[in-house]
Amino acid sequence: MRPTQAPFPQTRLRRTRRSPALRALVAQNTLSPGDFIWPVFVREGENVEEPVPSMPGVLRRSVDRVVEAAREAHALGIPAICLFPYTDAAGRTEDCAEAWNPDNLSNRATRAIKDAVPDIAIMTDVALDPYSDTGHDGFVRDGEIVNDETVQALVRQALSQAEAGVDIIGPSDMMDGRIGAIRSALESNGHHNVLLLSYAAKYASAFYGPFRDAVGASGALKGDKKTYQMDPANSDEALRCVARDLAEGADMVMVKPGMPYLDICRRVKDEFAAPTYAYQVSGEYAMIQAAAQQGWIDGERAMAESLMAFKRAGCDGILTYFAPTMARALQV
Ligand code: PBG
Repeated sequence: MRPTQAPFPQTRLRRTRRSPALRALVAQNTLSPGDFIWPVFVREGENVEEPVPSMPGVLRRSVDRVVEAAREAHALGIPAICLFPYTDAAGRTEDCAEAWNPDNLSNRATRAIKDAVPDIAIMTDVALDPYSDTGHDGFVRDGEIVNDETVQALVRQALSQAEAGVDIIGPSDMMDGRIGAIRSALESNGHHNVLLLSYAAKYASAFYGPFRDAVGASGALKGDKKTYQMDPANSDEALRCVARDLAEGADMVMVKPGMPYLDICRRVKDEFAAPTYAYQVSGEYAMIQAAAQQGWIDGERAMAESLMAFKRAGCDGILTYFAPTMARALQV
């Protein structure tokens, strides 16, 4: 039990809020550039930066420009960048073979960044959706997103990313058994030091809408992802997912989306004490940016407050499209 505090006026909780100095002394959480993983969209071409209309301030960049972005992120103290390829219709096939092509966009970007900015950590996404003609994260057979056959493909995809030199692999597909399968393939192919950041508790969310535009998947997606991503009604199931993924060899776990799921972040951190991350997803970013553009909220403050909320909820870090903007705001 918490000791009772003295009654008013012996206790005045406003005393510690009186000045910036006193507020700083009692602040329990901090934000720093070291907390961020920056998701970036990669596209074909050279010297291209193309705005994503549904995510104001976010660009699709050609590989050379992604390298520049990595350089900038590193200079700002951001430890990791996460690559998402924008694939055109030609790269989306039923067999999803582009996913494990050693020369696909994601692998080319990985090698280019490793060459130019070796000290930034590179994270990549494992899931078939950028490469499938259905927009699903797995193979579709007779209307079903099949698990085990998909896992075999995810293993090939993960190995090709490890060969290209990524530091952190992020399986975002929500198939069962993929962490164990990827971990043992990495071990038996000599990739002992590649980390797995599992999208362990990933919900079937409306907040991914702008991302699907950004990677060109919104047009392709048939149906929804509810047979593999979690039901927003559930919380205990998230703990089972995290327990399972840690037991299969995940080094870090993620809750996604972020702000509507802070309760899950807190439960996961308290229960497992593992490195825990939240993904502040595209829809969360878009809402803040859209309201700020209208002048309805102070965008800079809403950004900082939304990110601090993840730290308060127990997260060790945040995947956020605000990473460079927030990191710059923190430099002063
Ligand atoms: C795909 C993937 C998604 C996101 C990250 N990886 C979309 C989805 O599951 O449909 C969403 C990221 C965001 O909304 O910012 N496996």
